Amino acid sequence: MKLFLDTANVAYVAEIARWGVLDGVTTNPSLVAKEGKDFKKVVLEMCKLVPCVSAQVTAPDVEGMKKQGEEYASWHKNVVVKVPMTTDGLQVVKYLSGKKIKTNVTLVFSVAQAILAAKAGATIISPFIGRLDDIGEDGMVLIEEIMDVWSHGRFETEVLVASTRHPRHIIDAARVGAHICTIPYEVFKKLPQHTLTDNGYKKFQEDWEKVKNRG
Ligand code: E4P
Repeated sequence: MKLFLDTANVAYVAEIARWGVLDGVTTNPSLVAKEGKDFKKVVLEMCKLVPCVSAQVTAPDVEGMKKQGEEYASWHKNVVVKVPMTTDGLQVVKYLSGKKIKTNVTLVFSVAQAILAAKAGATIISPFIGRLDDIGEDGMVLIEEIMDVWSHGRFETEVLVASTRHPRHIIDAARVGAHICTIPYEVFKKLPQHTLTDNGYKKFQEDWEKVKNRG
């Protein structure tokens, strides 16, 4: 499973990329607004660090989204155009996929939406599991159902588990065979942590200090 960082913060991307496990980045307008930086500059800096950076279109109509999508794609080969899961968005995905421009359909909350996005030619779909959990549903069930449909081999679209809230989401996404999981910085930082690792490492270092100078 590929691991993406869900952020518009370039320093976070650089930090996690140094671990050698980062496959991409997802941004959205809310994350970009939080950082308050020049969007194009941020995307281009991220493209130097990872091979896949999702940049979301924000135009209110089909023609505007098509234009924005083509512009984003012209910035760098690593850009994937993120398009909302609306009927307008589907038209944009069909258009961009016809031009060999990679797309990521965002705000997917049902299997029916996942199927439509894949049929329109999406490279990636992003079902949001945390937001379903937030309203009392089980977001991971949606991923299981999508992966079940995908198991028949009819769709090439990659399933990206989005809106993750804690490490268990990442583990369960991997268990059901999702292709990609995007993870907020704070959650990503928790993934390598384990108290027994910390304690064990400390003890190994202390014991080595006791013997390292012995002939
Ligand atoms: C990723 O592509 C999404 O924009 C993101 O995961 C949404 O997460 P949130 O529900 O925590 O805002």
